[in-house]
Amino acid sequence: MTNFSWPHYPLPWSDPLIPTYQRRSIGKWKCEPTPDGHRIMGYWRPHNYVPPGWMFLQKLKNNWIVWMSTTPMELESHMPHIAAAKGTVVVAGLGMGFYLYNILRKPEVTRVIVLEKDKSVGRLFAHSIRIPDWHGFDKADIVFGDALDYKPDFPVDFLYADIWPHLGDYRALDLTQKLQANIKAKEVGFWGQEFDFITHLMDKRLPGPVDSHATLANYNGFCEDVGLPLVERQSKRYPKLAYVAVTLQTSINASTDKHDGVVLTAQALGVLQQDLVIDYSLGR
Ligand SMILES: C[S@@+](CC[C@H](N)C(=O)[O-])C[C@H]1O[C@@H](n2cnc3c(N)ncnc32)[C@H](O)[C@@H]1O
Repeated sequence: MTNFSWPHYPLPWSDPLIPTYQRRSIGKWKCEPTPDGHRIMGYWRPHNYVPPGWMFLQKLKNNWIVWMSTTPMELESHMPHIAAAKGTVVVAGLGMGFYLYNILRKPEVTRVIVLEKDKSVGRLFAHSIRIPDWHGFDKADIVFGDALDYKPDFPVDFLYADIWPHLGDYRALDLTQKLQANIKAKEVGFWGQEFDFITHLMDKRLPGPVDSHATLANYNGFCEDVGLPLVERQSKRYPKLAYVAVTLQTSINASTDKHDGVVLTAQALGVLQQDLVIDYSLGR
């Protein structure tokens, strides 16, 4: 292994906290630790070292499939949505609950309704967490059922949607629009929304490189076009970071050739430097 190390740059949001889970096995689901690792891609930045974490797996036929885990990619992709949560929050998709763990700790979050379709996920969650570690747990209600049927009879300040298995899932935007049609939250975030924004920019076939169009004006145009009051509508850095996230994830996609992946990573990091979206002097 060479001595090469990635630059570690600060982001505009706090690092998410990882709750401690316990090894548990319930029916076709289990919670297990993940090993530590070196040189792992996060969502907004690469990491030189990643400590051990946790994952939820489901047995399908004879294979255990990882459904959720506390990898840097999963954790970092929730950062702007943790930062945006306030007041009464509806969370569509419990999963391992690390989004829930991070927002319950915020004093400005007063009530959280979590919508979860799969009771087995709920059972594994209940048996693998340590409730005394979950500050603010009394603010949460977990409602089992299809999130798409949920219609609150009270005002909702923030909706966070994460009910699909893959980052950049083609159904993500449509599902979020359907949830918001019923929930009517003042602000909305959805997992991997950066993919939808950058795809929207690419579809416009504007002249010049895509990153030059990743601007606040175009991000607000995207929010208007899709009819969603999305997070980060005032942040000049967010549209560039969205471009960086999508480029970094593409660089490690299984269908991307190794050489192209290296070029894409360099390109993403270059965009950050040009636009002073990050300050490398604070790095490492
Ligand atoms: C990727 S996980 C969410 C991870 C979560 N953000 C966390 O912090 O761990 C997606 C979750 O959404 C649930 N889900 C899928 N479709 C749903 C639906 N229509 N209504 C409610 N929950 C759903 C799945 O069972 C799963 O628990």
